[in-house]
Amino acid sequence: MKRIITYGTYDVLHYGHINLLKRAKALGDYLIVALSTDEFNNLKGKKSYYTYEQRKKILESCRFVDLVIPEENWEQKINDAQKYQADIFVMGDDWEGKFDFLKDYCEVVYLPRTPDVSSTQTKEYLKGV
Ligand code: CTP
Repeated sequence: MKRIITYGTYDVLHYGHINLLKRAKALGDYLIVALSTDEFNNLKGKKSYYTYEQRKKILESCRFVDLVIPEENWEQKINDAQKYQADIFVMGDDWEGKFDFLKDYCEVVYLPRTPDVSSTQTKEYLKGV
C-alpha cells in the first residue's frame, strides 16, 4: 500500500486541482490531503471563499481523495509524513525545491501545474460577472 500526501487550500475547487489530485493518486493507492485551515490561511494572508469544513466536504467527495486532515502550520510536514506513513509527498511545481528537506522521510515529487487556472483567478473573474 503506497501512501501519498499533499497540501493546499483547495478553495473553489477547479480542474487544475482535480488534475493534481488525479496524478497524485495515480502514484500510489491512498491519497491524503492536508487542507489548510481558515486560521492557517489567515496566517498566510489568504482568505478562502469556502470555510475549512466546506472545502473538506468537497474534497472528501472527490474519488481520488481518501483522507483529509488539517494543515495548521508550516512545520507539521515531517510529523505528518511519519504519522501517516507517507511514501510520497506531492506538490505542484509552483513549490519546486521548497520541500526537498522531506527527502529524508519520503519521496518528494513536484507535478507540473495546470496552466491558466487558479482559485484566485476564478474569484477575481467572478467578482466582475
Ligand atoms: N495546482 C495545480 N494547478 C493549478 C492550480 C493549483 O497543479 N492550476 C495545485 C497546486 O500546485 C497545489 C494544489 O493544486 O499543489 C492546491 O493548490 P492551491 O494553492 O490550493 O490552488 P490555487 O488555485 O493555486 O490557489 P490560489 O490561487 O489561491 O493560489
